Amino acid sequence: MESNKDRSFYIITPIYYVNDIPHIGHAYTTIACDVMSRYKRMKGFDVRFLTGTDEHGQKIQMAAEGKGLTPQELVDKIHVNFKELWSVLNISNDDFIRTTEPRHIRVVQAMFKQLMDQGDIYKGTYEGRYCVPCETYVPESGEGEGQTCPDCGRPLTMMQEESYFFRASRYVPQLIEHYEKNLDGVIPRARYNEIMSFLRGEVRDQSVSRTTLKWGIPIPGDEKHVVYVWFDALINYATSAGYLDDPTKFARYWPCVRHVVGKDIIRFHCVIWPLMLLALGLNVPVSVIAHGWWTVEGEKMSKSKGNVVDPFRMVDLYGADAFRYFLLREVPFGNDGDFSELALVGRINSDLANDLGNLLNRTLQMIETYCGGVVPACQLSDPLDLELRDLGSATLSKVDAAMESFSFDEALKAIWAFVSRGNKYIDETMPWKLNKEGDVKRLAEVLHSLYETLRLSALLVAPVIPNTAERIYRQLGLTATPCEQRYDDFRWGEGAGTKVEKAEVLFPRIDIEEWKKRRAASSQPVSVPQSEHEPEIGIDGFSAVEMRVARIVKAEEIPKSKKLYKLKVDLGYETRTVCSGIKAFFKPEELEGRLVVLVTNLKPVKLCGIESNGMILAASVKKDGASEQLTLISPASDIPLGSRVS
Ligand code: ME8
Ligand code: MG
Repeated sequence: MESNKDRSFYIITPIYYVNDIPHIGHAYTTIACDVMSRYKRMKGFDVRFLTGTDEHGQKIQMAAEGKGLTPQELVDKIHVNFKELWSVLNISNDDFIRTTEPRHIRVVQAMFKQLMDQGDIYKGTYEGRYCVPCETYVPESGEGEGQTCPDCGRPLTMMQEESYFFRASRYVPQLIEHYEKNLDGVIPRARYNEIMSFLRGEVRDQSVSRTTLKWGIPIPGDEKHVVYVWFDALINYATSAGYLDDPTKFARYWPCVRHVVGKDIIRFHCVIWPLMLLALGLNVPVSVIAHGWWTVEGEKMSKSKGNVVDPFRMVDLYGADAFRYFLLREVPFGNDGDFSELALVGRINSDLANDLGNLLNRTLQMIETYCGGVVPACQLSDPLDLELRDLGSATLSKVDAAMESFSFDEALKAIWAFVSRGNKYIDETMPWKLNKEGDVKRLAEVLHSLYETLRLSALLVAPVIPNTAERIYRQLGLTATPCEQRYDDFRWGEGAGTKVEKAEVLFPRIDIEEWKKRRAASSQPVSVPQSEHEPEIGIDGFSAVEMRVARIVKAEEIPKSKKLYKLKVDLGYETRTVCSGIKAFFKPEELEGRLVVLVTNLKPVKLCGIESNGMILAASVKKDGASEQLTLISPASDIPLGSRVS
């Protein structure tokens, strides 16, 4: 019998911070893990797939303060957005863990205590510069210019506190030895090398507690300390696997952990976490796979720029499968990538509509017209047919090899080469001509081969575009669920005799010209009739209007109003309540945290019973008196709250 280690597969995303709404980056990691999970299940592995949310720490505490909520209220509210997104994106996770759950708190405290009892955690004093948004001390050698955080560029804060330390240094030689023997311990190789050189330098003992904040797991026996958020967070992977409460499950999955993470957090996963595990006497991960960073149309995503890609919107516009396919096909896993909607539309048209969609359409059309909708049976002998069949099995092997190294794009290229071969095969064999000539035998062989090409293609694409695979299966007259099939059970030829059910087009082509026109329409200058211009004013008239930069900290519905939000805005020197008629254009989460411009000396008015103190600037296109399009006016770069706009 094969051992667990080789047949079990425990794949894990980072747990995401809930101070923010999910964006394309979070979607990317989770989709990649989902695709790998589905693929491994179809290979017969005993898969466990975990994701979740990181809910403690300074970041969360501050975000909660900013929104006037308790941290618990904030995390209870925001974590739901992640769950919803995973459902919309068809994510097949087996567990969703939240670090505020009792099952997790117990494990963190037990591990902390064990390490303390065995002398691997000791008490000391910590002093250093700290980046609050990133929740991390930055060593002097790693500081950015002018004492800023090397990752986010924001100013660092000097902190000194009594702290517990994890004796990380003690286990470094053991970890180096492990990586020397396991070159796939970190994937890709460039990241492996980066981690090895870091380990061969000076790895300091790690501060693992805080006295400066409340929102964390208390340290057993010394409750003025809470566990540092990273130490807490990493442990979730063991909690979920049943470290304390299910030893059988833990033994089944712990030896086969794969972490998929963005390149931003590899030190935590490739250094700190394995050192913690070595100290605890547990297996280190089989691999940590690091992927690259997405930018958006050439720019870093940021809330103040307002260019954060909302995965919910992408799914609304293009469907979950197209979005999933694009993210994994467009960029080699490990490399950075740039997201653009035009590129996504391009992929939909060429790969999904043209290649895959057409192969299905053309084939089913011909099976219906020439064979009464039933897949013909036949003995294959024509070299062309055998070549197509052999390419099918070669594709299965290529996909295996690519997936082994998490090269999703390579796997997809191989699958699409097979699909394209199918389309070319139609052009070469010209079934319409065979029909005209009455060559019934050859026609049967050809349509049989095409059907099998599609049946295999549906299985091959299933992990990436599970909905589409299912739709293909239905049209092929198959009732099973593709993702529940095993690749090893596939036999070329077994589809003969099936009655097909041609239905809707899989991916309707998006007319690029129309699409561009719609886009351009939103940037067409509006025409302004003379009657809409205001009379001239002097500079004094303008200066009379006081406008300042403010941050929206909270957006709430007003039950009686369809148009208005009640906004809490922070000017730095004070906070205000403002009622704003922008409800039709934003969800509350899209507003919270945004920088805007506020007219501060407007006479207060009562709207729906609420006193509104100021007005937020927005640009809008109006039609019949109502706003059709609307955007908020935000500073183009960070600037202190309260700055005067003139
Ligand atoms: O770091 N491109 O959470 P987080 C690609 N809670 N991937 C991106 C991305 C981008 N632009 N932005 C984010 C944390 N990601 C901690 C983790 S684990 C014990 C604790 C993805 O919400 C990528 O996977 O900041 C990255 O590692 C993760 O989101 C960070 O999510
Ligand atoms: Mg982050």
